[in-house]
Amino acid sequence: MTDKHFTLNDPESGESVQLAVHEPTVGPKVVDVTQLYGEHGVFTFDPGYAATASCESSITYIDGEAGVLMYRGYPIEQLAKQSTFTEVAYLLLHGELPTAAQLDEFDHSIRTHTMINESLLRFFNGFHHNAHPMAMVSGVVASMSAFYHDSTNIHDPHDRDVFAYRIIAKIPTIAAAAYKHSRGQPFVYPQNQLDYCSNLLHMFFAVPSDQYEVDPVAAEALDLLFILHADHEQNCSTSTVRLAGSSGTNPYSAIAAGMSALWGPAHGGANEAVINMLEEIGSADRIGLYVSKAKDRNDPFRLMGFGHRVYKSYDPRATIIRETCHRLLERLGHNDTPLFELALRLEEIALKDEYFVEKNLYPNVDFYSGIIYRALGIPKSMFTVMFAIARCVGWVTHWREMVADPGTRIGRPRQLYVGPTRRDYSPIGSR
Ligand code: ACO
Repeated sequence: MTDKHFTLNDPESGESVQLAVHEPTVGPKVVDVTQLYGEHGVFTFDPGYAATASCESSITYIDGEAGVLMYRGYPIEQLAKQSTFTEVAYLLLHGELPTAAQLDEFDHSIRTHTMINESLLRFFNGFHHNAHPMAMVSGVVASMSAFYHDSTNIHDPHDRDVFAYRIIAKIPTIAAAAYKHSRGQPFVYPQNQLDYCSNLLHMFFAVPSDQYEVDPVAAEALDLLFILHADHEQNCSTSTVRLAGSSGTNPYSAIAAGMSALWGPAHGGANEAVINMLEEIGSADRIGLYVSKAKDRNDPFRLMGFGHRVYKSYDPRATIIRETCHRLLERLGHNDTPLFELALRLEEIALKDEYFVEKNLYPNVDFYSGIIYRALGIPKSMFTVMFAIARCVGWVTHWREMVADPGTRIGRPRQLYVGPTRRDYSPIGSR
């Protein structure tokens, strides 16, 4: 906190209020309104929290105007090029890049906690084969609190670490179980000798009747997508994890709450919606029609994978994925180029359109990610699950930061009440 102040003037009463200002290490200053109601009897109004810093955090920084994203101060472009998902997970969780020995230990710990309780595995049989994988995965994650009681004392830092490592290690196994269940195939157990993404591909695509070799190009592509999706400061699902966790609930429930928030098409569900949209558009000559629909105020259609609450320029993650798409589709020998070409053309047309220019609407991370998932053979309904696997690292990191912060209070917003004023109850016969 600095000794700087922000002054609010109420022209009606002539009263002026001095509010303290917090200085971030980088980014806009933050006006502290915590005493506003107690001392002056007024609330602030900010639906959607567009101008509200809900907490103090030292994990991830975004500059939406400049298209900057940094994990613990490291630019996403450098991490995408030089790091691995496991190393990024360590960085997010622990705040610093690991030494070789620390990374080995962390990697070993994750690799050797990938199995899930067999009873938990049997849960999947209770789901219909066409259940959405996000419904299965979020439900099973919530029920983990019924199995792993030894990591739910949120006040014990050791328990918190056990929980963090456990959820990161087991979430790919749960996701793979959901996938196998929806395919009607037998579950494939994790292989500890495989790295995080190779193991995931193995659990998805191996079958008992055949040999399966993980394609290193596919594992590398998945690793890149996971780095890009690992965290994104106080987004909708992360804020949900923090809000649910602020009540002191067990962390599995808090993560399951975040997962449910992620599923919506305005958030992580957009990757699935983008492919549905591109398939519906079908060919370049129909792009104009869909761009017009997106601009029509009376049409609920939006260009999926376009726009972002924070980025008012190109989402740096979308830049990286777009650059990677060409190379990957070629290396994977995949014939999904027409869909990618359609996406590129749609982007080109939208970015020249006055409506999108005026509103600063650019492709976000989900615009191109589905094209890579498709090329890896992952079905559309699993896209948001893939996002959830990577984002588990961010959710857990934020949850740990919040629980360890002695200043944390239960999240409890207030409201601008516009309902009826006091009135008297009338018996049913006289209404
Ligand atoms: N297509 C057409 N118009 C759009 C789009 C879009 N994709 N996104 C925003 N707009 C318009 C809005 O209609 C609004 O117009 P108005 O000012 O005339 O009312 C203006 O741009 C501002 O948009 P808001 O919805 O107010 O912006 P907000 O920050 O609330 O929403 C969101 C951001 C939800 C991402 C929005 O852009 C959207 O729905 N995009 C499509 C879904 C999507 O891709 N979501 C993934 C986001 S990234 C992630 O969560 C991983």
